[in-house]
Amino acid sequence: MVFTHSLPLVPAPVSATAGEGRMPIAATTRVLGSSPAAAQLIDAVERRSGIRLSAADAADAADSASADIELRLDPAVAAPEGYALTVGDRVELVGADEAGLFYGVQTLRQLLREEEHGWGFLRAEIRDAPRFGRRGVMLDVTRHFFDVDEVKTFIDSISALKFNHLHLHLSDDQGWRIQIDSWPLLTELSSSTAVDEARGGFYTKDDYREIVAYAEERHVLLIPEIDLPGHTHAIGVAYPELVEEPVVSDALRSESLQQGQPLPVHGEAYLGTGVGHSSVRIHEERTYEFVRDVVRELAEITPGPYLHVGGDESLGTPQADFDLFAERVTAIVVEAGKTPIAWHEMGSAADIAEGTIGQYWGKTTPEGTHAEEAAHFVERGGALIMSAADAAYLDMKYTADFPLGLTWAAIIDVRSAYEWEPTAVLDVPDDAILGIEAPLWSETTRTLSDVEQLVFPRAAAQAEVAWSPREAPERVWESFRVRLGSLAPLWKAEGIDFHPADEIPWSER
Ligand code: ACM
Repeated sequence: MVFTHSLPLVPAPVSATAGEGRMPIAATTRVLGSSPAAAQLIDAVERRSGIRLSAADAADAADSASADIELRLDPAVAAPEGYALTVGDRVELVGADEAGLFYGVQTLRQLLREEEHGWGFLRAEIRDAPRFGRRGVMLDVTRHFFDVDEVKTFIDSISALKFNHLHLHLSDDQGWRIQIDSWPLLTELSSSTAVDEARGGFYTKDDYREIVAYAEERHVLLIPEIDLPGHTHAIGVAYPELVEEPVVSDALRSESLQQGQPLPVHGEAYLGTGVGHSSVRIHEERTYEFVRDVVRELAEITPGPYLHVGGDESLGTPQADFDLFAERVTAIVVEAGKTPIAWHEMGSAADIAEGTIGQYWGKTTPEGTHAEEAAHFVERGGALIMSAADAAYLDMKYTADFPLGLTWAAIIDVRSAYEWEPTAVLDVPDDAILGIEAPLWSETTRTLSDVEQLVFPRAAAQAEVAWSPREAPERVWESFRVRLGSLAPLWKAEGIDFHPADEIPWSER
Protein backbone atom coordinates (compact mmCIF):
# COMPACT_ATOMS: atom_id res chain seq x y z
CA MET A 1 0.00 0.00 0.00
CA VAL A 2 1.22 3.51 -0.76
CA PHE A 3 0.60 6.22 1.77
CA THR A 4 0.50 9.87 0.97
CA HIS A 5 2.01 11.94 3.74
CA SER A 6 0.89 15.20 2.31
CA LEU A 7 -0.83 16.33 5.51
CA PRO A 8 1.50 16.46 8.49
CA LEU A 9 -1.13 15.78 11.15
CA VAL A 10 -0.89 13.89 14.47
CA PRO A 11 -3.23 12.44 15.59
CA ALA A 12 -4.53 11.46 12.15
CA PRO A 13 -7.98 12.93 11.52
CA VAL A 14 -11.06 10.91 10.54
CA SER A 15 -10.75 12.15 6.98
CA ALA A 16 -8.44 14.59 5.29
CA THR A 17 -7.84 15.62 1.72
CA ALA A 18 -4.88 17.77 0.86
CA GLY A 19 -5.47 20.75 -1.44
CA GLU A 20 -3.01 22.57 -3.71
CA GLY A 21 -0.43 24.79 -2.05
CA ARG A 22 -0.93 27.07 0.91
CA MET A 23 -3.07 29.91 2.09
CA PRO A 24 -0.54 32.65 2.91
CA ILE A 25 -0.94 34.66 6.10
CA ALA A 26 0.11 38.15 7.11
CA ALA A 27 -0.63 40.60 9.91
CA THR A 28 -3.58 41.79 7.84
CA THR A 29 -5.18 38.32 7.83
CA ARG A 30 -8.37 38.71 9.82
CA VAL A 31 -9.69 36.13 12.29
CA LEU A 32 -13.40 36.20 13.08
CA GLY A 33 -14.93 34.33 15.98
CA SER A 34 -16.00 35.11 19.53
CA SER A 35 -14.80 31.76 20.87
CA PRO A 36 -11.69 31.69 23.09
CA ALA A 37 -10.21 29.41 20.40
CA ALA A 38 -9.93 32.44 18.06
CA ALA A 39 -7.65 34.25 20.51
CA GLN A 40 -5.73 31.01 21.15
CA LEU A 41 -5.13 30.69 17.39
CA ILE A 42 -3.86 34.26 17.12
CA ASP A 43 -1.46 33.72 20.05
CA ALA A 44 -0.21 30.36 18.74
CA VAL A 45 0.42 31.68 15.22
CA GLU A 46 2.38 34.59 16.67
CA ARG A 47 4.51 32.33 18.89
CA ARG A 48 5.37 30.20 15.88
CA SER A 49 5.77 32.72 13.08
CA GLY A 50 6.06 36.13 14.70
CA ILE A 51 2.97 37.19 12.71
CA ARG A 52 0.12 38.56 14.80
CA LEU A 53 -3.10 37.98 12.89
CA SER A 54 -5.83 40.62 13.31
CA ALA A 55 -8.94 39.93 15.33
CA ALA A 56 -11.91 40.94 13.20
CA ASP A 57 -14.11 43.41 15.07
CA ALA A 58 -17.82 43.25 15.74
CA ALA A 59 -18.67 45.22 12.58
CA ASP A 60 -17.15 42.42 10.50
CA ALA A 61 -19.38 39.89 12.18
CA ALA A 62 -22.31 40.97 10.05
CA ASP A 63 -20.37 39.87 6.99
CA SER A 64 -18.57 36.79 8.18
CA ALA A 65 -17.61 35.75 4.65
CA SER A 66 -15.25 38.72 4.50
CA ALA A 67 -13.05 37.35 7.28
CA ASP A 68 -10.00 35.41 6.16
CA ILE A 69 -10.30 32.93 9.01
CA GLU A 70 -13.71 32.21 10.43
CA LEU A 71 -14.42 30.13 13.54
CA ARG A 72 -17.97 29.20 14.45
CA LEU A 73 -19.99 26.59 16.30
CA ASP A 74 -22.48 24.13 14.85
CA PRO A 75 -23.37 21.08 16.97
CA ALA A 76 -24.50 19.25 13.81
CA VAL A 77 -21.08 19.34 12.16
CA ALA A 78 -19.52 16.43 14.05
CA ALA A 79 -19.67 14.33 17.21
CA PRO A 80 -18.71 16.06 20.49
CA GLU A 81 -15.15 17.47 20.39
CA GLY A 82 -15.21 17.19 16.59
CA TYR A 83 -14.82 19.83 13.89
CA ALA A 84 -14.82 20.45 10.16
CA LEU A 85 -11.97 22.49 8.73
CA THR A 86 -11.57 23.86 5.23
CA VAL A 87 -8.43 25.70 4.22
CA GLY A 88 -8.80 27.11 0.72
CA ASP A 89 -8.50 30.79 -0.11
CA ARG A 90 -9.87 31.32 3.37
CA VAL A 91 -10.15 29.18 6.49
CA GLU A 92 -13.48 27.98 7.73
CA LEU A 93 -13.39 26.11 11.04
CA VAL A 94 -16.67 24.80 12.42
CA GLY A 95 -16.61 23.18 15.85
CA ALA A 96 -19.28 20.83 17.18
CA ASP A 97 -18.57 22.53 20.51
CA GLU A 98 -15.87 24.72 22.07
CA ALA A 99 -13.58 21.71 22.44
CA GLY A 100 -14.03 20.96 18.74
CA LEU A 101 -12.96 24.50 17.87
CA PHE A 102 -9.94 24.16 20.15
CA TYR A 103 -8.95 20.90 18.41
CA GLY A 104 -9.47 22.46 14.99
CA VAL A 105 -7.05 25.19 16.06
CA GLN A 106 -4.49 22.53 17.08
CA THR A 107 -4.84 21.02 13.59
CA LEU A 108 -4.35 24.46 12.02
CA ARG A 109 -1.17 24.88 14.06
CA GLN A 110 0.19 21.70 12.47
CA LEU A 111 -0.80 22.93 8.99
CA LEU A 112 1.11 26.19 9.51
CA ARG A 113 4.38 25.95 7.58
CA GLU A 114 7.16 28.27 6.58
CA GLU A 115 8.37 28.18 2.99
CA GLU A 116 10.47 30.40 0.75
CA HIS A 117 7.70 32.95 0.33
CA GLY A 118 6.67 33.10 3.95
CA TRP A 119 4.17 31.51 6.30
CA GLY A 120 0.90 29.89 5.35
CA PHE A 121 -1.57 27.11 6.13
CA LEU A 122 -1.45 23.99 3.94
CA ARG A 123 -4.73 23.77 2.03
CA ALA A 124 -6.93 20.91 3.17
CA GLU A 125 -10.42 19.66 3.76
CA ILE A 126 -10.71 17.87 7.11
CA ARG A 127 -13.47 16.20 9.12
CA ASP A 128 -12.57 15.01 12.54
CA ALA A 129 -13.82 13.71 15.90
CA PRO A 130 -12.18 11.52 18.54
CA ARG A 131 -12.42 7.74 18.76
CA PHE A 132 -12.32 7.82 22.59
CA GLY A 133 -13.73 10.48 24.89
CA ARG A 134 -11.00 9.68 27.43
CA ARG A 135 -7.54 10.69 26.31
CA GLY A 136 -5.33 11.17 29.31
CA VAL A 137 -1.82 11.71 30.55
CA MET A 138 -0.65 11.35 34.15
CA LEU A 139 2.08 13.40 35.79
CA ASP A 140 3.67 12.14 39.01
CA VAL A 141 4.43 15.30 41.02
CA THR A 142 5.49 13.36 44.13
CA ARG A 143 8.76 11.58 43.30
CA HIS A 144 9.84 14.89 41.82
CA PHE A 145 7.80 18.05 42.18
CA PHE A 146 6.79 20.28 39.27
CA ASP A 147 5.54 23.77 40.06
CA VAL A 148 2.44 25.51 38.72
CA ASP A 149 4.21 27.03 35.70
CA GLU A 150 5.76 23.68 34.77
CA VAL A 151 2.38 21.96 34.98
CA LYS A 152 0.91 24.70 32.78
CA THR A 153 3.64 24.16 30.19
CA PHE A 154 2.90 20.44 30.29
CA ILE A 155 -0.83 21.12 29.79
CA ASP A 156 -0.03 23.29 26.77
CA SER A 157 1.97 20.56 25.09
CA ILE A 158 -0.41 17.66 25.78
CA SER A 159 -3.57 19.58 24.87
CA ALA A 160 -1.96 20.39 21.51
CA LEU A 161 -2.06 16.63 20.85
CA LYS A 162 -5.78 16.64 21.73
CA PHE A 163 -5.44 14.98 25.16
CA ASN A 164 -8.36 15.98 27.37
CA HIS A 165 -7.55 14.61 30.85
CA LEU A 166 -4.60 15.27 33.15
CA HIS A 167 -4.24 12.96 36.15
CA LEU A 168 -2.03 14.47 38.87
CA HIS A 169 -0.51 11.89 41.23
CA LEU A 170 -0.52 14.11 44.35
CA SER A 171 0.68 11.83 47.13
CA ASP A 172 3.16 9.01 47.50
CA ASP A 173 5.80 7.69 49.88
CA GLN A 174 8.21 10.53 49.10
CA GLY A 175 5.94 13.55 49.56
CA TRP A 176 2.48 15.08 49.95
CA ARG A 177 1.67 17.77 47.37
CA ILE A 178 -1.71 19.40 48.12
CA GLN A 179 -2.86 21.73 50.90
CA ILE A 180 -5.44 20.10 53.18
CA ASP A 181 -6.67 22.57 55.82
CA SER A 182 -8.01 20.00 58.27
CA TRP A 183 -4.68 18.08 58.34
CA PRO A 184 -2.14 20.92 58.08
CA LEU A 185 0.93 18.85 58.98
CA LEU A 186 0.69 17.05 55.63
CA THR A 187 2.16 20.04 53.84
CA GLU A 188 4.04 21.45 56.87
CA LEU A 189 6.03 18.27 57.48
CA SER A 190 5.69 16.04 54.40
CA SER A 191 5.88 18.24 51.31
CA SER A 192 9.47 19.49 51.27
CA THR A 193 10.94 16.09 50.33
CA ALA A 194 11.37 14.27 47.02
CA VAL A 195 13.48 11.44 45.60
CA ASP A 196 17.23 11.81 46.24
CA GLU A 197 16.88 15.08 48.16
CA ALA A 198 15.55 16.91 45.11
CA ARG A 199 13.43 19.99 45.73
CA GLY A 200 9.97 19.25 47.14
CA GLY A 201 6.93 21.48 47.18
CA PHE A 202 3.16 21.48 47.21
CA TYR A 203 0.19 23.22 45.64
CA THR A 204 -1.83 25.59 47.78
CA LYS A 205 -5.54 25.40 47.07
CA ASP A 206 -5.20 28.58 45.03
CA ASP A 207 -2.35 27.01 43.02
CA TYR A 208 -4.53 23.99 42.38
CA ARG A 209 -7.49 26.15 41.31
CA GLU A 210 -5.15 28.01 38.96
CA ILE A 211 -4.05 24.72 37.37
CA VAL A 212 -7.68 23.56 37.08
CA ALA A 213 -8.70 26.81 35.37
CA TYR A 214 -5.71 26.80 33.02
CA ALA A 215 -6.45 23.21 32.06
CA GLU A 216 -10.14 23.97 31.54
CA GLU A 217 -9.29 26.74 29.06
CA ARG A 218 -7.48 24.06 27.07
CA HIS A 219 -10.30 21.51 27.44
CA VAL A 220 -8.31 19.37 29.84
CA LEU A 221 -10.08 17.93 32.87
CA LEU A 222 -7.99 17.50 36.00
CA ILE A 223 -8.15 14.23 37.95
CA PRO A 224 -6.47 14.42 41.38
CA GLU A 225 -5.11 11.24 42.95
CA ILE A 226 -4.45 10.53 46.59
CA ASP A 227 -2.81 7.11 46.57
CA LEU A 228 -4.24 4.80 49.29
CA PRO A 229 -3.87 2.56 51.27
CA GLY A 230 -0.26 1.97 50.11
CA HIS A 231 2.21 4.58 48.85
CA THR A 232 1.45 6.44 52.08
CA HIS A 233 4.76 6.69 53.90
CA ALA A 234 4.69 10.52 53.67
CA ILE A 235 1.36 10.64 55.50
CA GLY A 236 3.12 8.89 58.40
CA VAL A 237 5.83 11.57 58.52
CA ALA A 238 3.10 14.10 59.35
CA TYR A 239 0.73 11.82 61.28
CA PRO A 240 2.56 8.65 62.42
CA GLU A 241 -0.59 7.31 64.07
CA LEU A 242 -2.29 6.89 60.66
CA VAL A 243 0.34 4.63 59.08
CA GLU A 244 1.66 1.13 59.86
CA GLU A 245 5.31 0.27 60.44
CA PRO A 246 7.00 -0.22 57.02
CA VAL A 247 6.87 -3.77 55.66
CA VAL A 248 10.37 -4.52 54.42
CA SER A 249 10.27 -7.40 51.95
CA ASP A 250 13.35 -9.26 50.73
CA ALA A 251 12.85 -7.61 47.34
CA LEU A 252 12.83 -4.12 48.87
CA ARG A 253 15.87 -4.94 51.00
CA SER A 254 17.95 -6.18 48.06
CA GLU A 255 16.79 -3.42 45.70
CA SER A 256 17.60 -0.74 48.27
CA LEU A 257 21.03 -2.23 48.85
CA GLN A 258 21.67 -2.34 45.11
CA GLN A 259 20.61 1.29 44.66
CA GLY A 260 22.41 2.49 47.79
CA GLN A 261 19.11 3.69 49.26
CA PRO A 262 18.21 3.49 52.97
CA LEU A 263 15.20 1.41 54.03
CA PRO A 264 12.02 3.25 55.06
CA VAL A 265 11.76 4.20 58.75
CA HIS A 266 8.34 4.90 60.28
CA GLY A 267 7.75 8.62 60.77
CA GLU A 268 10.92 9.70 58.94
CA ALA A 269 11.12 11.04 55.38
CA TYR A 270 11.69 8.37 52.70
CA LEU A 271 13.69 9.53 49.66
CA GLY A 272 14.26 6.17 47.99
CA THR A 273 12.24 4.67 45.15
CA GLY A 274 11.20 1.33 46.64
CA VAL A 275 7.49 0.48 46.54
CA GLY A 276 5.01 -1.63 48.46
CA HIS A 277 6.20 -1.00 52.02
CA SER A 278 3.61 1.44 53.37
CA SER A 279 -0.05 1.21 54.40
CA VAL A 280 -2.47 3.36 56.31
CA ARG A 281 -4.00 1.64 59.38
CA ILE A 282 -7.03 -0.07 57.97
CA HIS A 283 -8.69 -1.00 61.27
CA GLU A 284 -8.48 2.46 62.86
CA GLU A 285 -11.54 4.72 62.50
CA ARG A 286 -9.19 7.72 62.61
CA THR A 287 -7.91 6.63 59.17
CA TYR A 288 -11.41 7.04 57.72
CA GLU A 289 -11.83 10.46 59.36
CA PHE A 290 -8.62 11.41 57.59
CA VAL A 291 -9.75 9.96 54.25
CA ARG A 292 -13.16 11.64 54.53
CA ASP A 293 -11.58 15.05 55.22
CA VAL A 294 -9.07 14.76 52.39
CA VAL A 295 -11.73 13.57 49.93
CA ARG A 296 -14.12 16.37 51.00
CA GLU A 297 -11.49 19.11 50.65
CA LEU A 298 -10.27 17.78 47.30
CA ALA A 299 -13.83 17.45 46.03
CA GLU A 300 -14.47 21.09 46.96
CA ILE A 301 -11.69 22.35 44.71
CA THR A 302 -12.17 19.85 41.89
CA PRO A 303 -14.95 20.78 39.44
CA GLY A 304 -14.49 17.55 37.45
CA PRO A 305 -16.46 14.45 38.44
CA TYR A 306 -13.53 12.18 39.40
CA LEU A 307 -11.33 11.52 42.41
CA HIS A 308 -8.60 8.88 42.06
CA VAL A 309 -7.90 6.92 45.23
CA GLY A 310 -4.93 4.85 44.09
CA GLY A 311 -4.90 1.25 45.25
CA ASP A 312 -1.71 0.06 43.52
CA GLU A 313 1.09 -1.98 45.01
CA SER A 314 -0.21 -2.40 48.55
CA LEU A 315 2.17 -5.30 48.78
CA GLY A 316 2.44 -5.46 52.55
CA THR A 317 -1.32 -5.18 53.18
CA PRO A 318 -3.22 -8.43 53.87
CA GLN A 319 -5.76 -9.04 51.06
CA ALA A 320 -8.83 -8.97 53.32
CA ASP A 321 -7.72 -5.64 54.82
CA PHE A 322 -7.02 -4.23 51.37
CA ASP A 323 -10.46 -5.26 50.09
CA LEU A 324 -12.18 -3.78 53.14
CA PHE A 325 -10.31 -0.52 52.60
CA ALA A 326 -11.14 -0.48 48.86
CA GLU A 327 -14.85 -0.83 49.65
CA ARG A 328 -14.79 1.92 52.27
CA VAL A 329 -12.69 4.42 50.35
CA THR A 330 -14.71 4.13 47.13
CA ALA A 331 -17.94 4.55 49.16
CA ILE A 332 -16.48 7.70 50.76
CA VAL A 333 -15.77 9.20 47.32
CA VAL A 334 -19.34 8.44 46.20
CA GLU A 335 -20.69 10.07 49.39
CA ALA A 336 -18.65 13.16 48.51
CA GLY A 337 -20.51 13.32 45.18
CA LYS A 338 -17.66 12.15 42.95
CA THR A 339 -16.94 9.08 40.85
CA PRO A 340 -14.02 7.06 42.21
CA ILE A 341 -11.17 5.93 39.98
CA ALA A 342 -8.73 3.30 41.22
CA TRP A 343 -5.77 1.33 39.89
CA HIS A 344 -6.95 -2.13 38.83
CA GLU A 345 -5.90 -3.91 42.03
CA MET A 346 -8.96 -2.46 43.81
CA GLY A 347 -11.08 -4.68 41.55
CA SER A 348 -10.18 -7.50 43.98
CA ALA A 349 -12.78 -6.10 46.39
CA ALA A 350 -16.20 -7.70 45.82
CA ASP A 351 -18.17 -4.68 47.00
CA ILE A 352 -16.19 -1.84 45.53
CA ALA A 353 -18.60 1.10 45.03
CA GLU A 354 -20.81 0.69 41.99
CA GLY A 355 -19.64 2.74 39.02
CA THR A 356 -16.03 2.94 40.17
CA ILE A 357 -13.71 3.32 37.18
CA GLY A 358 -10.70 1.02 37.04
CA GLN A 359 -7.35 1.99 35.61
CA TYR A 360 -5.61 -1.06 34.12
CA TRP A 361 -1.83 -0.83 34.34
CA GLY A 362 -0.95 -4.49 33.67
CA LYS A 363 0.72 -5.63 30.48
CA THR A 364 -0.82 -5.88 27.00
CA THR A 365 -0.88 -9.63 27.72
CA PRO A 366 -2.35 -9.66 31.24
CA GLU A 367 -0.51 -11.49 34.00
CA GLY A 368 -1.74 -13.06 37.26
CA THR A 369 -5.09 -11.76 38.48
CA HIS A 370 -4.85 -8.36 36.72
CA ALA A 371 -7.46 -9.08 34.05
CA GLU A 372 -10.00 -10.44 36.58
CA GLU A 373 -9.49 -7.46 38.85
CA ALA A 374 -10.01 -5.07 35.93
CA ALA A 375 -13.12 -6.92 34.73
CA HIS A 376 -14.69 -6.59 38.19
CA PHE A 377 -15.02 -2.81 37.73
CA VAL A 378 -17.18 -3.53 34.67
CA GLU A 379 -19.25 -6.11 36.61
CA ARG A 380 -19.91 -3.40 39.19
CA GLY A 381 -21.28 -1.02 36.54
CA GLY A 382 -18.03 0.86 36.09
CA ALA A 383 -15.65 1.06 33.15
CA LEU A 384 -11.95 1.02 32.39
CA ILE A 385 -9.12 3.34 31.45
CA MET A 386 -6.30 1.49 29.70
CA SER A 387 -2.71 2.26 30.72
CA ALA A 388 -0.95 -0.92 29.61
CA ALA A 389 2.46 -0.58 31.26
CA ASP A 390 4.44 -2.17 28.40
CA ALA A 391 2.95 0.20 25.81
CA ALA A 392 1.51 3.35 27.41
CA TYR A 393 3.92 3.98 30.31
CA LEU A 394 5.87 7.09 29.40
CA ASP A 395 8.52 6.48 32.07
CA MET A 396 9.95 3.33 30.49
CA LYS A 397 13.24 3.74 28.62
CA TYR A 398 13.20 3.96 24.80
CA THR A 399 16.34 1.85 24.60
CA ALA A 400 18.36 0.02 27.23
CA ASP A 401 20.96 2.79 27.31
CA PHE A 402 18.57 5.76 27.43
CA PRO A 403 19.73 7.89 30.39
CA LEU A 404 16.25 8.50 31.87
CA GLY A 405 13.46 6.15 32.83
CA LEU A 406 12.95 2.65 34.18
CA THR A 407 12.70 -0.79 32.55
CA TRP A 408 10.56 -2.97 34.87
CA ALA A 409 7.60 -3.14 32.46
CA ALA A 410 9.45 -3.03 29.14
CA ILE A 411 11.75 -1.03 26.95
CA ILE A 412 9.31 0.97 24.82
CA ASP A 413 10.51 2.45 21.57
CA VAL A 414 8.20 4.78 19.65
CA ARG A 415 6.91 1.97 17.48
CA SER A 416 5.92 -0.20 20.49
CA ALA A 417 4.26 2.82 22.07
CA TYR A 418 2.22 3.19 18.86
CA GLU A 419 1.33 -0.41 18.05
CA TRP A 420 -1.09 -1.51 20.73
CA GLU A 421 -4.85 -1.73 20.77
CA PRO A 422 -6.61 -0.75 24.01
CA THR A 423 -9.73 -2.84 23.30
CA ALA A 424 -7.71 -6.01 22.63
CA VAL A 425 -6.06 -6.38 26.06
CA LEU A 426 -8.96 -7.51 28.29
CA ASP A 427 -11.96 -9.71 27.76
CA VAL A 428 -14.57 -6.97 28.33
CA PRO A 429 -17.04 -5.35 25.93
CA ASP A 430 -15.46 -2.62 23.79
CA ASP A 431 -17.83 -0.02 25.25
CA ALA A 432 -16.42 -0.70 28.73
CA ILE A 433 -13.16 0.87 27.56
CA LEU A 434 -13.42 4.63 28.09
CA GLY A 435 -10.07 5.28 26.47
CA ILE A 436 -6.47 5.46 27.52
CA GLU A 437 -4.12 7.23 29.87
CA ALA A 438 -0.35 7.44 29.48
CA PRO A 439 1.36 7.85 32.87
CA LEU A 440 4.67 9.59 33.50
CA TRP A 441 6.15 8.40 36.81
CA SER A 442 8.89 10.74 37.91
CA GLU A 443 11.46 8.65 39.82
CA THR A 444 14.18 9.59 37.29
CA THR A 445 12.95 12.97 36.01
CA ARG A 446 14.34 15.87 38.05
CA THR A 447 13.31 18.62 35.62
CA LEU A 448 10.51 19.37 33.19
CA SER A 449 13.05 18.92 30.43
CA ASP A 450 13.66 15.34 31.67
CA VAL A 451 9.88 14.80 31.66
CA GLU A 452 9.63 16.07 28.09
CA GLN A 453 12.44 13.75 26.94
CA LEU A 454 10.38 10.76 28.04
CA VAL A 455 6.93 12.09 27.09
CA PHE A 456 7.72 13.39 23.61
CA PRO A 457 7.43 11.84 21.11
CA ARG A 458 5.71 8.84 22.72
CA ALA A 459 2.72 10.89 23.93
CA ALA A 460 2.01 11.59 20.26
CA ALA A 461 1.77 7.83 19.68
CA GLN A 462 -0.72 7.54 22.56
CA ALA A 463 -2.65 10.55 21.26
CA GLU A 464 -3.16 8.79 17.93
CA VAL A 465 -4.15 5.50 19.62
CA ALA A 466 -6.78 7.44 21.59
CA TRP A 467 -8.03 9.85 18.92
CA SER A 468 -7.75 8.35 15.44
CA PRO A 469 -10.14 5.79 13.95
CA ARG A 470 -8.72 2.29 14.23
CA GLU A 471 -9.52 1.56 10.57
CA ALA A 472 -8.11 4.76 9.01
CA PRO A 473 -5.53 3.95 6.30
CA GLU A 474 -3.09 6.39 7.94
CA ARG A 475 -3.38 4.61 11.28
CA VAL A 476 -0.24 2.54 10.62
CA TRP A 477 3.35 2.92 11.71
CA GLU A 478 4.80 3.79 8.29
CA SER A 479 2.43 6.73 7.97
CA PHE A 480 2.63 7.75 11.62
CA ARG A 481 6.42 7.97 11.75
CA VAL A 482 6.52 10.39 8.82
CA ARG A 483 3.69 12.55 10.15
CA LEU A 484 5.31 12.53 13.60
CA GLY A 485 8.62 13.66 12.10
CA SER A 486 6.85 16.66 10.63
CA LEU A 487 5.99 17.94 14.13
CA ALA A 488 9.64 18.69 14.91
CA PRO A 489 9.62 22.35 13.80
CA LEU A 490 6.46 23.04 15.83
CA TRP A 491 7.84 21.33 18.94
CA LYS A 492 11.16 23.16 18.58
CA ALA A 493 9.36 26.48 18.26
CA GLU A 494 7.37 25.71 21.39
CA GLY A 495 10.55 24.79 23.29
CA ILE A 496 9.50 21.16 23.88
CA ASP A 497 12.64 19.16 24.70
CA PHE A 498 11.57 16.02 22.78
CA HIS A 499 13.76 12.96 22.30
CA PRO A 500 14.82 12.81 18.63
CA ALA A 501 14.39 9.02 18.45
CA ASP A 502 16.20 7.63 15.42
CA GLU A 503 13.13 5.62 14.34
CA ILE A 504 11.61 8.89 13.17
CA PRO A 505 12.54 10.92 10.05
CA TRP A 506 12.51 14.32 11.78
CA SER A 507 11.96 17.20 9.41
CA GLU A 508 13.71 20.56 9.53
CA ARG A 509 10.78 22.75 8.38
C1 ACM B 1 1.68 1.88 39.16
O1 ACM B 1 2.47 1.93 38.18
N1 ACM B 1 2.14 1.57 40.35
C2 ACM B 1 0.27 2.15 39.01
